[in-house]
Amino acid sequence: MNQNELKQAVARAARDYVAEHLPPGAILGVGTGSTANCFIDEIAALRERIGGCVASSEATRQRLESHGLRVLELNDIVADGLAMPIYVDGADEINAGLAMIKGGGGALTREKIVAAVAGCFVCVCDQSKRVDTLGSFSLPVEVIPMAREHVRHELIRLTGGEPRLRTGFVTDNGNEILDVHGLAIHDPLALESRLEQITGVVCNGLFARRGADVLLLAGSQGVQTHIRQTA
Ligand code: A5P
Repeated sequence: MNQNELKQAVARAARDYVAEHLPPGAILGVGTGSTANCFIDEIAALRERIGGCVASSEATRQRLESHGLRVLELNDIVADGLAMPIYVDGADEINAGLAMIKGGGGALTREKIVAAVAGCFVCVCDQSKRVDTLGSFSLPVEVIPMAREHVRHELIRLTGGEPRLRTGFVTDNGNEILDVHGLAIHDPLALESRLEQITGVVCNGLFARRGADVLLLAGSQGVQTHIRQTA
């Protein structure tokens, strides 16, 4: 199978996971990216069963609506005390502990917010995303535009990596992205916390504190399910 076929296979597996585990009428969080897009196309068939979706980006909102899936505002859900039992999203890299780098599509901040509210994070990936050490994929950091150069200096000082501005790109929140190249991240949780403390950083693309709970990983042997081991 080529990479696109693997994405479609894992999207079908995620649809089946949702059909089995999401209570009828419940709310589903939906991620961003090409794998998430395949998933959205698959869950169109479940539209009568899903109470509504929370989108992690404007692109995802549009794709959900184009399939007739109802998109709800996260604030309304939380204010009404409603649960979002499952969030399904892709990743740029994922390690054995199910910590991830995300944000290759630039939606990291909203993805992290939706993931924070969700009961269970189901990550959908093809095998190319599975790594032993995070960092070969550049780490996205969303920054307030006026803080860009300050953040760039701090990122170099703290990580030793090389931050590069993602030129011509503005996030859904009106901010910029610095992609940090040349990292080998041996302690994702510690680095995620350190980066959060830089003034001017909106969000970094390490998802370690709130990693995935379930990984559906598509490879040549089919789609395998990995559950995060808790201490
Ligand atoms: C979007 O900002 C990202 O976090 C994506 O979830 C991630 O880049 C995976 O995207 P693909 O499925 O397109 O590889």
